[in-house]
Amino acid sequence: MDLERRIPALRRAFAELAGGEPDGIWAAPGRVNIIGEHTDYNDGLVLPIAIDRQALAAVRLTRDTGGTGPAAIRCWSCQEDDDAWQVYPHGVARALADAGLPAAGFDLVVDSDVPTGGGLSSSAALECSVALGLAGDWFDRNELAAICQRAENEYVGAPTGIMDQMASLFGQEGHGLLLDCRDLRTEQVPLPLDGLTLLVIDTKASHALGDGAYGERRRACEDAAKALGVRALRDADLAAVEMLDEPLRRRARHVVTEIARVREAADLLHAGRIRELGPLLDASHASLRDDFEVSVDELDVAVDESRRAGALGARLTGGGFGGSAIALVPDAAVGAVREAVTAAYRERDWTAPDIFAVNPGDGASRVGDRAEDGVGR
Ligand code: GLA
Repeated sequence: MDLERRIPALRRAFAELAGGEPDGIWAAPGRVNIIGEHTDYNDGLVLPIAIDRQALAAVRLTRDTGGTGPAAIRCWSCQEDDDAWQVYPHGVARALADAGLPAAGFDLVVDSDVPTGGGLSSSAALECSVALGLAGDWFDRNELAAICQRAENEYVGAPTGIMDQMASLFGQEGHGLLLDCRDLRTEQVPLPLDGLTLLVIDTKASHALGDGAYGERRRACEDAAKALGVRALRDADLAAVEMLDEPLRRRARHVVTEIARVREAADLLHAGRIRELGPLLDASHASLRDDFEVSVDELDVAVDESRRAGALGARLTGGGFGGSAIALVPDAAVGAVREAVTAAYRERDWTAPDIFAVNPGDGASRVGDRAEDGVGR
C-alpha cells in the first residue's frame, strides 16, 4: 500500500538506525488463501493470492562475518518493539547458509503493513523479503520458497507447509495461484473481482501455529496416509477414507474433499464464473469446522454473519484457531456485511474485528531503485 510514501520513509529509517544507505529494498506480500486449507503438507492443491500488503526489507550486506562465529546481523523493525520477530531474519540467514550461500553479515530494517497474528502470513512476507535481499540471484524462486519454509520449520519451530512462501514469491496481480504442492508446479488463474469485494475479517482471536494444534493435525494426516498405505493424503480416495477410525476419518475426509474443491474452484475461475465460488467457500468452512476442527467461535460468527448480510460465500483462511476469515461480497453488500459482523462481535463483548478489502497483488520484487544508487545485485 502506498509504496511511494513508504519507500522514502524506510530509507530515512535506515539512515537513522543503521547509518547510510541500504544496498536495496525488497517487497514481499502477505497472502490470503482463497481455497485449499491444510492441503499443502498433504502434497495437495492450494489456491492462494498474494495481497496488496507487504513487508519491505531494506538490506545492506556487510563484510563482517563475525570471525568463526555466526555472521554479524543487525535488525530493526519500524513496527515491533520487542526482538521476538528477529528469529525470522536469523532463521532465513541460517537456512540460506545451509543451502550454500556464503556467509555475510547484514544490516536490516523492516517495515511491514501485513497485520501480525492475523493469519495473513506476515511471517512468510518477512522471510521472503529478507531472503530476496540476501540471496536474490543465488537461488531460483522455488528453492527460495523451500529455504524460507525451512527457516520457519527448523529455526522458528513452526511445522508449516510451503503455500505461504510460494504465494508471496509467485503471486500475480489480478490472479490466483493454483499451486500443486507435490511438484511445486504453478498456474496463474484469472481472478477478476468486477463488482465483487474480497473482504478480510481479522477476528483478533489469538492464533499461534507453534502452539501444537497445527502440528497435531499434521501428524493425524500422516497417520491417516500411513493407515491407508498411500504416500500422502493427496493419493487417498474417499471410499477408503470412510473406513478409517475416528478422528483420522474426519481429518482425512477434510483433506480429500478440500483438494477436490480446489480443482472445482480453479475450473470455475477458468470459466469466468467467479460468482459461483460461494458454495465452495461455504463447504470448505464447514469441513474445516466439523471435520478438521480448526475453527473457533469468532471465525464461525464472522462467516455466518457475512453470509446472512449478503456475502456469496465465506470461510476461515489460513491455519485456523483464530486469525482471519474471508468473504466474497457483491460491492453493494459490503457495508451491510461490515455492520453485521461488527454488531455481532459487539453483542458478544468480543474485541472489534478489523475488516478490510484485499486485492490479488504481485509477488515479491525489488522496489524503489534510485538511478543514483548504482547498486546492482
Ligand atoms: C498455515 C501454514 C500453511 C498452511 C495453512 C493451512 O498458514 O503456514 O503452510 O498449512 O496454515 O492451509
